[in-house]
Amino acid sequence: MKRILSILLIIFVVVISGCYYDTEEQLYPELSTTCDLTNVTFAATVKPILQASCLNCHSNSKAVSSGGGVKLENYADVQIQAKNGQLMGTVSHTSGFQAMPQGGGKLTDCEISKLQKWIDNGTLNN
Ligand code: HEC
Repeated sequence: MKRILSILLIIFVVVISGCYYDTEEQLYPELSTTCDLTNVTFAATVKPILQASCLNCHSNSKAVSSGGGVKLENYADVQIQAKNGQLMGTVSHTSGFQAMPQGGGKLTDCEISKLQKWIDNGTLNN
C-alpha cells in the first residue's frame, strides 16, 4: 500500500510540474525566447541575418539593379556599411536613414541587437 501511495505521489508531482512548466512558458514567453548575444560572429550570426532579409536586393549581383549600389554580401562590404553607421541606422529605422529592409518588416529586436553586438566587438571577420 505504501509503495502504491509513493508511486501515485511521484506521478502527481511529475504531472503537476509538467503543467506548471507549460503555464509558465505561456504566461512569460520571453523566458523561452531570450536573445542570446554570446558567440556573435560574422559567419554564424551576421551573414544569415543579411542573407534572409537583405541579399534579395544587396547581393553582389543585385546591388546595382535593386539595392542602390550598396553591397552586403562580402565581409569587406558589410564592414564598410557597419563602420559608416549606415547598417545600424537603416535597420533601426533611425530618422535620417532609409528604413531597411526596404518594403519589408523591420528586423526583430534580437537581430538588431546581434548586429550591434558584432559592431561593438569590432566588426571582426570571424
Ligand atoms: C527590396 C529591396 C531591399 C531590401 C530587401 C533591402 N534593401 Fe537596403 N536598399 C534598397 C535600395 C533600393 C536602396 C537605395 C535607396 C536609396 O538610395 O534611395 C537601399 C539602400 C540601403 C543602404 C544605404 C542607405 C543610404 O541611405 O544610402 C543600406 C545601408 C541598406 N540599404 C541596408 C539594408 C539592410 C541592412 C537590409 C536588410 C536588413 C536591406 N538594406 C534590405 C533596397 C533594399
